[in-house]
Amino acid sequence: MTILFNTFIIIVVVQVCRIHGFPKLNSCQQRYKYYTRSDWEALPASYVTPLVTPVPNVVIHHTYKPDACTTHQECIQAMKSMQAYHQSLDWGDIGYNFCVGNSGDVYEGRGWDVKGIHAGPANGVSIGICLIGDWRVNQPPEDMLEATKSLIESGIEQGYIKPDYKLVGHKQVMATECPGTALFNNISKWDHFF
Ligand SMILES: *[C@@H]1O[C@H](CO)[C@@H](O)[C@H](O)[C@H]1NC(C)=O
Ligand SMILES: [Zn+2]
Repeated sequence: MTILFNTFIIIVVVQVCRIHGFPKLNSCQQRYKYYTRSDWEALPASYVTPLVTPVPNVVIHHTYKPDACTTHQECIQAMKSMQAYHQSLDWGDIGYNFCVGNSGDVYEGRGWDVKGIHAGPANGVSIGICLIGDWRVNQPPEDMLEATKSLIESGIEQGYIKPDYKLVGHKQVMATECPGTALFNNISKWDHFF
């Protein structure tokens, strides 16, 4: 009876996790901390274009500037400064769908279902994830890379990313050095790299 009851509880918890998809602190799996737009006090987007999901691609970026952030406060500042800059370019909002800090905390940009401005021709067919910092020479920290992989997994589980997605670096779709040589070499060893 106890075993049956425990099994029942586990099934309920798993189902609740599935249905609600993306709990704020990702409490179903505890894979990374997740901060919403209101958590970092994002300004409202001045316009929003829906993204058709599930998308077939994930595009990886570095920021180059702002620098890598190691504390929550620094990461919030980075998010705010990127949003201000991108809005000044008339992009309506921060360009990326998500950003990741050094400790592996994930910050919501446009989120899963809004078309980003980060990869030119690929904007409408991808989720853009930026790893905050300059990753031309230094490898990003392990926690940051693991959180990025988990974020992609979460996107698949929730139906926003196709399970057979292609992973690319920004420079594969546009003339840019982004996501930096060190990060690019790193993602080139990941599953789904195209
Ligand atoms: C990617 O970066 C991580 C963390 O810095 C490192 O442990 C790993 O060896 C790197 N992988 C490649 C292929 O460079
Ligand atoms: Zn980029």
